[in-house]
Amino acid sequence: MTSPQILIAPSIVCADLTRLGEEADRLRAAGADWLHLDCMDGHFVPPLTFGPLLLACLRPRSDLYFHAHLMIEHPERQVDEFLRAGANLITFHREVYEDPRPLLQRLREAGCQGGLAYKPNTPLGDLPQFLPFMDALLVMSVEPGWSGQEFQPETVARIRQARALIDAAGLPVHLVVDGGINDETAPLVVAAGATVLVSGSYLFAHPGDLAAAVAVLRGARPS
Ligand code: DX5
Ligand code: ZN
Repeated sequence: MTSPQILIAPSIVCADLTRLGEEADRLRAAGADWLHLDCMDGHFVPPLTFGPLLLACLRPRSDLYFHAHLMIEHPERQVDEFLRAGANLITFHREVYEDPRPLLQRLREAGCQGGLAYKPNTPLGDLPQFLPFMDALLVMSVEPGWSGQEFQPETVARIRQARALIDAAGLPVHLVVDGGINDETAPLVVAAGATVLVSGSYLFAHPGDLAAAVAVLRGARPS
């Protein structure tokens, strides 16, 4: 069996926000696959970042796949704006609803991909009932809210668990890992079954050689 291609998703909170269009071009040229847009509302997580307006501004500029990671308390109030802005995938947090299925279904009906994000301490055991409604599962490897935090090693076992649940369901659900991904942690999560690597501080710490940093992450293979 061939291993799935690993997709690289730079988190643009770490980009130069005064030149975001150029940054998107630069990331594309460096071989990035997705743009990861961390939308924070100051409630679900303490920081405030940006929302659909920024996606809408970037959309005509870039054909990268836009993944909006909504760290917000009421995603149902915002998703229409994100859909209009041209998001390709919207993930909201498992912790915000008892039953996330209605909103996941709404995203699909609107022609958008949808997914759930799980904080490091949120059990993954309820996933099987949600997977049929999901295109992506995002497993946080740090507490949501800030870039530059250290990868939590317990994540590796959680990725393994998530991989087993996705495989058991037999569904093509992306397994995204977000937080503290670098040249050392990428191989660990890829070996555990991750297929999409979000990276902020590691990638943007390599301004001169972004393509090499993307390649290092993408080439990460079980050692
Ligand atoms: C954290 C965000 C992450 C973050 C990743 O709340 O969801 O996407 O920007 O940054 P690094 O790779 O620096 O952990
Ligand atoms: Zn994120």
